[in-house]
Amino acid sequence: MTPRSIIIDCDPGHDDAVALLLALASPELDTLGITTVAGNVPLALTSRNARSIVELAGRCAVPVFAGADKPLLRPPVSAEHVHGQSGMGGVSLPEPKPALATENAVDFIIRTLCEKPAGSVTLCALGPLTNLALALMQAPEIAARLREIVLMGGACFAGGNVTPCAEFNLYADPHAAQVVFRSGATIVMLPLDVTHQVLSTRARIAAIGELGNRAGQTVAQLLSFAASTGVENYGGDAPPLHDPCVVAYLLRPDLFGGRHINVEIETGSALTMGMSVADWWSVSGRPANATFMRSVDAPGFYALLGERLARLP
Ligand code: BDR
Ligand code: CA
Repeated sequence: MTPRSIIIDCDPGHDDAVALLLALASPELDTLGITTVAGNVPLALTSRNARSIVELAGRCAVPVFAGADKPLLRPPVSAEHVHGQSGMGGVSLPEPKPALATENAVDFIIRTLCEKPAGSVTLCALGPLTNLALALMQAPEIAARLREIVLMGGACFAGGNVTPCAEFNLYADPHAAQVVFRSGATIVMLPLDVTHQVLSTRARIAAIGELGNRAGQTVAQLLSFAASTGVENYGGDAPPLHDPCVVAYLLRPDLFGGRHINVEIETGSALTMGMSVADWWSVSGRPANATFMRSVDAPGFYALLGERLARLP
């Protein structure tokens, strides 16, 4: 089978790092490039962390492109309280050997989508949507050339994790999110409603740590750090693992369930800024523009993650 071409846009970040490892370990996916954005930590750190993860995976030929260092309109927000000052709290990775690519992330996204056959490239979005929005604003024709955008972001029944009703990635750049959701591209979203079911219990972390390779040890350290802070405690007994759900969806869509509905992004209200207004019950009459996932087979997800991480150095 021909591997599926993907670009991963991310802000590593613990869970971004795990998502990158899951993708780089999976032969079904051809990662054409990794693009970075300011989010969990500033751009220089997300770009460094992405290069460290590429090296950890033994995939130094996968290029990393730096993109936007701030949101389109709003002041930056970050999440060091979740991911540590470096974004990789809990592990100390050496200065990465792979250099950053010279091309800008937005230019890389546009160029790749124009060069590759229409409908062949999937954009995996794991952070604030600034790079993707800039690409769509500069070259609106790429919306129709994308196979789909699969993103981690938003929430409906789960509420928010940065305000009572907004999820971090959409809150961090709501205007960018609005551009993406109005672009006409095919969108699949993995919101908090899904990721809050994907919990890194002590037993699951231990199993990953016992895989016997460096990647497994590193992931176990990252997840242990997340568990030790207790910051992301939304009623479960362990922290959620958000971004790898995007990659798991590409590998095993049967693990997830949802509905194709209308989703709009709030940009006008200080109280609900960045909220994903998801019309789960189809009461608005607005046309569907996204597939909103709500259920996940969490044991199946962790089985997949462990099996794939075990393939890495
Ligand atoms: C999202 O916010 C970030 O902190 C995580 O990396 C994830 O992408 C979860 O709301
Ligand atoms: Ca992220």
